[in-house]
Amino acid sequence: MEVVIVPDAVAGGELIAETIAALLSRKPGALLGVATGSTPLPVYEALAAKAASGAVDVSRARICQLDEYVGLPAGHPESYRSVVLREVVRPLGLGEDAFMGPDGAAGDIAAACAEYDRALAEAGGVDLQLLGIGTDGHIGFNEPCSSLASRTRIKTLTRQTRQDNARFFDSPEEVPHHVITQGIGTILEARHLVLLATGEAKAEAVALAVEGPLAAVVPASALQLHPHATVVVDEAAASGLKLADYFRDTYAAKPQWQGI
Ligand code: GLP
Repeated sequence: MEVVIVPDAVAGGELIAETIAALLSRKPGALLGVATGSTPLPVYEALAAKAASGAVDVSRARICQLDEYVGLPAGHPESYRSVVLREVVRPLGLGEDAFMGPDGAAGDIAAACAEYDRALAEAGGVDLQLLGIGTDGHIGFNEPCSSLASRTRIKTLTRQTRQDNARFFDSPEEVPHHVITQGIGTILEARHLVLLATGEAKAEAVALAVEGPLAAVVPASALQLHPHATVVVDEAAASGLKLADYFRDTYAAKPQWQGI
């Protein structure tokens, strides 16, 4: 696992957008897995700016969702489908045909989950999966004690996560209890995992995920199993890392052609 400490969220967004741009220049039809939440917004803004300036051609990129709420009415503005279309797909000038996600309104949720795992595999697998991290260490919506081998499935949110996400809804009770999320095993199949964390509220979860033992109770620690995982953190989110100086030295000495 590589840990890159950046000065702030904007720098993190720029670094990851450059990485995505480099991927798209090697593989124009790459499948990009995107995350929701506030943290990745600087990535999407930086990537859209690069696309608008002609620095990268995103016209063949494909976008896929990490997770989804269950039971929100179709078209609800806070369904992750709506969020990803609004924050990623449309700003990049892509159409809905370039986008895939699990169906949180399906009558048969178990079948929709299995169908999404199949669709990801049929699409050739995810090339780069962008991840955030919950304050409890979750990735996607894999809450603590999710199986490290899990596949896309229905999960129940913790009280903490519903509280953390209440800011997106008119009232806390409106946050759904159930979600569909790519499993940890599914996420680990992406070719490159890039986790972005910013702000002090994420410092403890980042330290446990990066330097703690591999444990289902900290789902993000599963990145330790992946051969190409990059954790990009700002100074505040890095503040709990014992090896911060080592991570700084390593990145400073890294040949630039390697990228992240
Ligand atoms: C939700 C999403 C996660 C995201 C997390 C953190 O739970 N399912 O993918 O990482 O929120 O969000 P934020 O970046 O807003 O802190």
